[in-house]
Amino acid sequence: MEKTPPQESWIAVEKYIAGHVVPPDSALDAAREANASAGLPAIDVSACEGKFLHLLARLAGARRILEIGTLGGYSAIWLARALPPGGRLITLELEPKHAEVAKANLDRAGVAHLVEIRVGRALDLLDELDREDAAPFDFFFIDADKSNGPRYLSWAVRHARPGSVIVVDNVVRDGYIVDAGNTDPDIKGTRQVFGMLAAEPRLTATALQTVGSKGYDGFAIALVTGDAGVK
Ligand code: SAH
Ligand code: DHB
Ligand code: MG
Repeated sequence: MEKTPPQESWIAVEKYIAGHVVPPDSALDAAREANASAGLPAIDVSACEGKFLHLLARLAGARRILEIGTLGGYSAIWLARALPPGGRLITLELEPKHAEVAKANLDRAGVAHLVEIRVGRALDLLDELDREDAAPFDFFFIDADKSNGPRYLSWAVRHARPGSVIVVDNVVRDGYIVDAGNTDPDIKGTRQVFGMLAAEPRLTATALQTVGSKGYDGFAIALVTGDAGVK
């Protein structure tokens, strides 16, 4: 499948939307700049996407949020700002350098007291959370290595309550997702995620394709229900 190039109009519309509903924010700008200076890849969510995650977390009334894949903490700032007083965001990151940059960014944004960054392989850290009995979480943002997406989703379902929301990033990847023969472990992982969204009776889900400064991609969104409800 041809890679779709980011189109000028996508970016212009994203700027237009952000210009209206995502006010300029020095902490978020500083986080992006710090990430760039530290050589982190510029793969954090866009401003409009960050606001979208923030709104979803507020709509869900989330008090406890789990993020898998911190990078420089850009999405974590948006999620932390959705928390009520006494709320908590735990965010998992493999790379100590990313976590260090994220810590400084969260400090600067004034939300560090709400956020715990844990460093290591997410699967190990999830085991650790299991042992601590840290669940349930009200909101999950799955945004780390896509090949492990099915394992992260499965953990989230097991550590959710009815009403919890699970968001998975990067589920379209320029449309490669519909290529059944694709052998890329990330694409295979994401295709398995869709299989689980279809098969898991406790989830009702959809996915939205997105375009903008991040190119052509998408989010999956699932609601954890107490029973087998509307699929
Ligand atoms: N959520 C961030 C972007 C995350 S990018 C934002 O929007 O601002 C993905 C991150 O996942 C990277 O920082 C990468 O180091 C981390 N990652 C990759 N594999 C991982 C693993 N096995 N465990 C934990 N983190 C991992
Ligand atoms: C890319 C984007 C992401 O949001 C991510 O989590 C990983 C990679 C990318 O554009 O390569
Ligand atoms: Mg992502």
